[in-house]
Amino acid sequence: SLTISKGAVEFKNVSFHYPESDVPVLRDLSFSVQPGETLAILGSTGSGKTSLFQLVPRLYDVTEGEVLVDGKNVMNYPIEKLRKGIGVVPQEAVLFTGSITENIGWGKEDATSDEIISAAVDAQIHETVEKLPNQYDTRVGQRGVNLSGGQKQRLSIARALVRKPKILMLDDSTSALDLKTEGKLLKALRTYSCTTFIITQKISTAMEADHILLLDDGTVEAWGTHEELLNTSPLYVKIVQS
Ligand code: GTP
Ligand code: MG
Repeated sequence: SLTISKGAVEFKNVSFHYPESDVPVLRDLSFSVQPGETLAILGSTGSGKTSLFQLVPRLYDVTEGEVLVDGKNVMNYPIEKLRKGIGVVPQEAVLFTGSITENIGWGKEDATSDEIISAAVDAQIHETVEKLPNQYDTRVGQRGVNLSGGQKQRLSIARALVRKPKILMLDDSTSALDLKTEGKLLKALRTYSCTTFIITQKISTAMEADHILLLDDGTVEAWGTHEELLNTSPLYVKIVQS
């Protein structure tokens, strides 16, 4: 089939450098994530987390190796079908001038009002929206109401959820959320049964994941569960203790 049906993701000996540079930012990454599993990606700034993300929806293409989705090289999907099955929440939430409804429904113009609200509830932004002057019709973005960083992040998550993605990729999208709100969000995400990649700085988030990938300077420093990494990775232990 030409669309993503299950959401399995595999990186096979992936290396990557940006087109304008020959410095490799990812080197020989191999790992796989089964449908519905959560992978937490940790690593210091510049270690390659965002770069890794971009290779799945083909915002960039690998320089060497393969990224497989449901066992098929991402190069072999029609790109719009591939991207349709992947919800990417970028590191910097992007809102445009328009209503809350338009911002959540962006890219899925056939979304019903129930679907928009349900995505907002799961993204933990519904209560905030209800308190705005015109609720879902409130204009945001330039010349709209001011939203906090965390509120923008959650709107951006709602935008990804409304598409019911098979693969959800959150790039540090919960950094501005308090632990309680983040906990509720992660619980709601589980009901989507999508494969989830979550870049995070928080050990509490990583602990919940099926796998943790610790990147160090573009390579896999450690792979495993929280318990496994405590026993195998001095760098992970250092992060936990910091
Ligand atoms: P943080 O978001 O700061 O935590 O870092 P990250 O782990 O997401 O790192 P990222 O993948 O953004 O960057 C990895 C390396 O790629 C760094 O050395 C960056 O300077 C470099 N890099 C990132 N974006 C670009 C780009 O568009 N062009 C080029 N040439 N290099 C880039
Ligand atoms: Mg990044």
